[in-house]
Amino acid sequence: MKRADQPRTYWQSARGAIVLGDARQVLEQALSPHSVDLVVTSPPFGLVRKKGYGNADAHEYVEWFRPFATGLRRVLRETGSLVIDIGGAWIAGQPTRSLYHFKLLVMLCEEFGFHLAQEFYWWNPARLPTPAEWVTVRRIRVKDAVNCIWWLSPTPWPRADNRRVAQPYSASMRQLLRNGYRAKKRPSGHDISEKFRCDNGAAIPPNLIAVAHTESNSAYLRACKARGLAAHPARFPTDIPEFFIRMLTDPGDLVVDPFAGSCATGEVCERLDRRWLCVEVVEEYLRGAVGRFDSPAAARAASAPGEARSHYQVARPGLLWDGARQEPLRADGGRTRKRAKGK
Ligand SMILES: C[S@@+](CC[C@H](N)C(=O)[O-])C[C@H]1O[C@@H](n2cnc3c(N)ncnc32)[C@H](O)[C@@H]1O
Repeated sequence: MKRADQPRTYWQSARGAIVLGDARQVLEQALSPHSVDLVVTSPPFGLVRKKGYGNADAHEYVEWFRPFATGLRRVLRETGSLVIDIGGAWIAGQPTRSLYHFKLLVMLCEEFGFHLAQEFYWWNPARLPTPAEWVTVRRIRVKDAVNCIWWLSPTPWPRADNRRVAQPYSASMRQLLRNGYRAKKRPSGHDISEKFRCDNGAAIPPNLIAVAHTESNSAYLRACKARGLAAHPARFPTDIPEFFIRMLTDPGDLVVDPFAGSCATGEVCERLDRRWLCVEVVEEYLRGAVGRFDSPAAARAASAPGEARSHYQVARPGLLWDGARQEPLRADGGRTRKRAKGK
């Protein structure tokens, strides 16, 4: 895929711009120091996947990321935030996981002085049970359905307000508010006082963000189709950047996505009146990305969570724990494809 040589403005609006080029150059030269309020991004990890993602590759990944980390530290305001959505990876040919995204987190904190404000997990209920060999054939691992999202900040006190991302109360909490709660000490020792009965109008969200990645008729996809282009293969749903843009920035703040792909971050910023800069090195991805800005209001209407998409359910463990006949565990841990007779 053709990569850009020198960064150049590819598209712009009154609020923001898409730059075609290498984000390292933009972070090191084009942006002013301490000028950015939020970086929200999903860096590539496919570049090491083909090599196997073992420990050596995890090491290579953090080395590759180092110049970006230098640039990110340079441009972020002290009270700003860096939010990195990063999927885990399997080690090739083996049912174990790479440590690369944890090593990245450790490097950012220990070498670049970032603080881990909080770790989030993006649960995608629509994830397929892969890798099939470990999950559906040998049945020795479970579905990998979460991405890690590292929320980092140059100081322990980034600007933030969780009320911006409040959620409707669950049915059980609504019932509790209606029927009243008896103040008592929990077995954990936590004192649950009367104030927990106070109806604040909305619930504080957990650090698990549930969004099914099932986009099929968004304005972006329609724009790609109309232009005869393939959609970006590794997009995040706009709900992911939107959660953090809402919680961590005010209108007029500057948001940057250095690995912009289809510019989902730019689309959200345009709608929420944040200033923004999206940087992408592959021009092909930007041809479709500009379609996001044909009609931002229509884009929101297409991606707004309707009632049908508002809640997901996950089964409590244990619903099938009684009565089922259990085969003994395989002594070889599934190393061989077929279960040996009597094992
Ligand atoms: C995981 S994708 C991001 C997808 C994006 N979040 C979206 O929703 O469309 C990572 C992107 O980073 C881009 N990229 C890789 N190296 C880059 C670099 N040095 N500068 C800018 N972009 C880069 C890749 O081309 C790819 O499109």
